[in-house]
Amino acid sequence: MYYLNPSLVTLNRIFDQNERKDYLRLDLNENPGGLPQDFIDRVLSDVTPQFVAQYPETLHFSEVLADYLGTDISHLCLVNGSAEGIRYIMQAFTSPHGRVVGVVPSYFMFQIYSEMYDRDFVGVPYNEDLSMSVDRILEAMTPETQLLILLNPNNPMGNVYSDEEIESILAEAGKKEITVLIDEAYHYFYPKTFAKYALQGEHVFVTRTFSKLFSLAGTRLGYVLGWPEGVRMVQKLCTPHNTNAFAMKFAEAVLTTPGMVDELIAKFEEGRKYLIASLDEHGYPHKGEAGNFLFIKPFTDAKTIVDRMKAEKKILIKSYAGVGDFGTCLRVSIGEKQYMRRFTEALYELDR
Ligand SMILES: Cc1ncc(COP(=O)(O)O)c(C=O)c1O
Repeated sequence: MYYLNPSLVTLNRIFDQNERKDYLRLDLNENPGGLPQDFIDRVLSDVTPQFVAQYPETLHFSEVLADYLGTDISHLCLVNGSAEGIRYIMQAFTSPHGRVVGVVPSYFMFQIYSEMYDRDFVGVPYNEDLSMSVDRILEAMTPETQLLILLNPNNPMGNVYSDEEIESILAEAGKKEITVLIDEAYHYFYPKTFAKYALQGEHVFVTRTFSKLFSLAGTRLGYVLGWPEGVRMVQKLCTPHNTNAFAMKFAEAVLTTPGMVDELIAKFEEGRKYLIASLDEHGYPHKGEAGNFLFIKPFTDAKTIVDRMKAEKKILIKSYAGVGDFGTCLRVSIGEKQYMRRFTEALYELDR
């Protein structure tokens, strides 16, 4: 008998149909400038036909990464983008109709995976002022909850948890035996990390990506940090050779080139400072403390600006609904100064 997973019939996935050609994309929180061209050329200079022909070997890069993070390879699992790791954690640590708690709005894949695997996703909304209510998270952590998903820093709001807050949440999770996934996709744009909880405790995972600051979204690489037994369970779900050889080659070069990470952070900071100063000068309210993106409240209709940016300026940005007292506003990825200048010039022209 033919069978089709009924969850897939109703599942609504939106696949990005925008063509990058000629557009400046400030809608996906990538690094619009990417890594320096001479760095790319250097990394590719010793690629051989054998390198391309062989299945990727993960041991060497896992050791480089573990070394960089001050841990060992039993605590990490490489994945094809952290979106893959998040999926495996949900598959391994929740059951059909299991309760999954996460803050909303948030990275949309948490809800998509919940629907895909028939989990019951329960969203904890932000406060009116866009702060996150830890009390409300604690309340939502009922004894039947299997997985709690947090983001540090939060996408899209960009706010963060204090040590006391995260510790009270983790203590409650431990008491009720709830696995906690902390998504740190935007780590490095805001250096506070909760990785130590994944490395020292049990039933806490941290996922990270090379797509954001490390500017390798095109190669797909992320990793899951956790306690060795949990990591082994995630590993069992991985497709064979899930980690791209080029991704690991570039990532190793970024991690081991002296000053490279600092340079990426410095360029980003310069772009952020420029954008914020320019918006302040032009009287634009903005929010977003901790990610590589900013919410901007325009003077005119946000959706119209998004459409006109695309049609007239070849710049892709997003409109976002429900951003506290901003209502529907613009979300813009932050990149190097030259891209921020192009965006602000377009904004000041269109937003009249
Ligand atoms: C919060 C968050 N987590 C995870 C991801 C997935 O990143 P990737 O699969 O590229 O590692 C994204 C991508 O935008 C994100 O915003």
